[in-house]
Amino acid sequence: MKRFFSSIALVGLALASFGALAQQPIVIKFSHVVAENTPKGKGALKFKELAEERTKGRVKVEVYPNSSLFKDGEEMEALQLGSVQMLAPSLAKFGPLGVRDFEVFDLPYIFDNVAELHKVTEGPVGAMLFKKLEGKGIVGLAYWDNGFKVMSANKPIHVPADYKGLKMRIQSSKVLGDQMKALGAIPQVMAFSEVYQALQTGVVDGTENPLSNFYTQKMQEVQKYLALTDHGYLGYAVIANKKFWDGLPADVRTTLTGAMKDATKFANDIAQKENDDALEAVRKSGKTQILTLTPAQKAEMKKVLVGVHKENESRVGKDVIAEVYKATGFKP
Ligand code: LMR
Repeated sequence: MKRFFSSIALVGLALASFGALAQQPIVIKFSHVVAENTPKGKGALKFKELAEERTKGRVKVEVYPNSSLFKDGEEMEALQLGSVQMLAPSLAKFGPLGVRDFEVFDLPYIFDNVAELHKVTEGPVGAMLFKKLEGKGIVGLAYWDNGFKVMSANKPIHVPADYKGLKMRIQSSKVLGDQMKALGAIPQVMAFSEVYQALQTGVVDGTENPLSNFYTQKMQEVQKYLALTDHGYLGYAVIANKKFWDGLPADVRTTLTGAMKDATKFANDIAQKENDDALEAVRKSGKTQILTLTPAQKAEMKKVLVGVHKENESRVGKDVIAEVYKATGFKP
């Protein structure tokens, strides 16, 4: 009799713990390397809000901003190992993964505006690039904007000759390395989280980034000059661990896909204003002199930098570059 009751108790315990397990939310760790008050930072929080609200708590999104969980050079492996479930790395950071075609987005002056860029991310090239991620255990969910990059240094920078010999921090992209070498500068690949200190200590002399990153990383405190070059674009691919994503209950995956779609619209709608506001904030700080290039100076920069396209046909893919030219109407 006693054995009967103890087995009933065991079954009850098992059912209770199963029930508790079934109530456990699905946790998505979303790691990124920028401040929260940036297009990507706000986009991640919007996705969190929509995902948790629309799944009625079945999904919990933990956002880890500013390299607080993983930094550049660690993030991608952490995603592939399943230590995090989502990232939104810059499109310039897929070379080390072996998908070098993403560096087409790094080609200087290949886009005149965000509308041209969206023709690429929302067209066959964007889809092809996401397809290539699948073999790496990664699924591409969305493209998020940041904006056009400016250059900064501790000396005035107007024309290519001004960059000669400068150590310039870049993301892990060979195209960006060639870009800086074309200017006579010395490219230094470095994790985003290390840039402020490297500028402060003189390990590097300057860098490039959209204004939202420049300002939110307080680079105005350690850079005397900022040139409004708009020489290239920086945006993101929102990606997930494929095994995790494919393993979600179908209804949850559908809901999250909708949340990502709306978070993408939100992030892309605010990107330009975030960068405009950052420029005004840098101007107001009075800590960095903002240089506007004359049309002749911009033309000189473009003349020197567009050569990087041809130089990288074998790396990025001649056909990929041709596709982007066709979509954007770029005339080399
Ligand atoms: C950088 O490393 O400069 C950027 O990719 C940071 C970011 O994610 O915007």
